[in-house]
Amino acid sequence: MKNIIKLIYFMFLSLILLNNNLLAVEKKKELLTSDWSFKGYFGKFDRGALQRGYQVYTEVCASCHSMKYLSYRNLAEKGGPEFSEEQAKAIAANFEVTDGPNDDGDMFTRPAKLSDKFVQPYRNVKEAMASNGGAYPPDMSVLVKARSGGADYIYSLLLGYEDPPSGTNLDDGVYYNKYMYGNNIKMPKPFMDGQVEYNDGTEATEQQMAKDVVTFLAWSAEPHLEERHKIGFRAIIYLIVITILVYFSMKKIWSRVESEV
Ligand code: HEC
Repeated sequence: MKNIIKLIYFMFLSLILLNNNLLAVEKKKELLTSDWSFKGYFGKFDRGALQRGYQVYTEVCASCHSMKYLSYRNLAEKGGPEFSEEQAKAIAANFEVTDGPNDDGDMFTRPAKLSDKFVQPYRNVKEAMASNGGAYPPDMSVLVKARSGGADYIYSLLLGYEDPPSGTNLDDGVYYNKYMYGNNIKMPKPFMDGQVEYNDGTEATEQQMAKDVVTFLAWSAEPHLEERHKIGFRAIIYLIVITILVYFSMKKIWSRVESEV
């Protein structure tokens, strides 16, 4: 029995060490971080943060950044912001999409439905660049996965606006950001305190809005994270049970041999 306890202890220890190693890599870049509820083996998204994050995305970021892989229906799905279906329908209905052609061969606009993709701010990349001083606001559906540093990086970037060091001249439409590669970014500072009004009474500080919107982006980049964590947990339990069974079977099978020696 002692051996088996040792074995289980060893398994947990290696898990913890592995986790710490991953954290250490992230820390090296000296990014800002937050107490993300979705990190770690049992991490889950904070529903409140996801719902507030959606609000921040629509009210602040959506005028420049698309999220073309999301549909309004995703907002009501399990593991996500989990708005009720009614709420998600009402959200969708705020947006207009082009549909058609109708019987006369004309395209027409109608309110969006659950099955529609998120409405995009620009018709194409060229228009997006023309409206942003030549820089392209990247699609944010999977941006957390696409940038090294992930959630911490985007969180840092959103809070990383500063006055440029003296002697630096910035062109019009270029801003100084501590965390952007090369420190110059063509995205204006997105937040000021109190910019959005949260329904749940949470105070909309810059940090809070950044945290909420990054949580939302982390979910959109990995909508099945909770499911994956659940499966991982079950797999570990399963392995522990198998280990115990194998251990006792081994004892039993070899017991005769041992006693005969
Ligand atoms: C006025 C338009 C505008 C708004 C509003 C805006 N962005 Fe941007 N964003 C841009 C542009 C343009 C770029 C590309 C900047 C560049 O390459 O210099 C960008 C780039 C980014 C990047 C990528 C930085 C990188 O590493 O390349 C992130 C992340 C980002 N925005 C997040 C957000 C979030 C989150 C919001 C909402 C809170 C937001 N943005 C609001 C225009 C905008």
